[in-house]
Amino acid sequence: MKIDFAGKRVLVTGGSRGIGRAAVEAFLENGARVALNGRTAQSTAAALAELGNNESLLSAPGDVATAAGCEAMVAAAVKGLGGLDILVNCAGVDRHGRLGNIDEETWDYIIDINLKGTFFCIQASLSALRESGGNVVNIGSDAGLMGSEDLIVYCASKGGVVNMTRAMALELAPGIRVNCVCPGYVDTDMVRRDGIEQADDPAAAEQKVIDYAPLRRMGEPAEIASAILYLASDDARFVTGAALQIDGGSTAGQ
Ligand SMILES: NC(=O)c1ccc[n+]([C@@H]2O[C@H](COP(=O)([O-])OP(=O)(O)OC[C@H]3O[C@@H](n4cnc5c(N)ncnc54)[C@H](O)[C@@H]3O)[C@@H](O)[C@H]2O)c1
Repeated sequence: MKIDFAGKRVLVTGGSRGIGRAAVEAFLENGARVALNGRTAQSTAAALAELGNNESLLSAPGDVATAAGCEAMVAAAVKGLGGLDILVNCAGVDRHGRLGNIDEETWDYIIDINLKGTFFCIQASLSALRESGGNVVNIGSDAGLMGSEDLIVYCASKGGVVNMTRAMALELAPGIRVNCVCPGYVDTDMVRRDGIEQADDPAAAEQKVIDYAPLRRMGEPAEIASAILYLASDDARFVTGAALQIDGGSTAGQ
């Protein structure tokens, strides 16, 4: 995908690996300057080193689970980049569990990172985005558009992200566009290392994930990054409040 982001200043939360990392690479390839956020200074520095400590790349570590963490991280990114044109909220976590076994710590952990973190990163970026006429891309999920019985809190958090995207799009139009991408299963640590490899029968677990989408495979992080770049680009200048499914057909019906 070739879209010109020359001169654009981008912050990607959860950019240290997986989908966020693919988005960071795609923005860099297309001329942007990028602030990469990982939860810790170590994970952020490791990602920067793996990407060759590119001069267009700067470090913005910080935990998005608290409003103060979001504010400090966004402030560092805006200062380092000299402003902000695009915010990508990609930091996210999941935990499987049945209703009767989900405790308050699990609820807070998932909601604070996925939903509250997305809200407060956007709030902290508002003045910089107003100044630049920028836009926001949130990462929802197919689990934000339909239920998954062992991912109840994750579904709540991503359903919140999807509908918060719409409400924010209304409030911030016409100056700032707000959209979200809703991936299906994507081959990242979240699915493979933390899911498939932990299962009693990893081969069966992988096959279940593959069979979940009508296109019979997992997505690649770069395929989600392409959608993120499209929504962040001027090609999407008439798009706001959208939830763009990149899911191999999983939300088309089962
Ligand atoms: N992989 C999938 O199948 C899939 C499907 C739908 C949606 N998503 C969403 O895509 C996003 C990226 O997921 P992924 O698959 O790349 O997962 P991943 O586990 O590979 O990466 C998650 C990223 O979030 C960061 N992160 C976690 N907690 C954080 C915190 N408190 N503060 C700052 N950063 C934090 C991690 O450092 C990492 O960079 C998430 O929002 C996830 O919910 C993933």
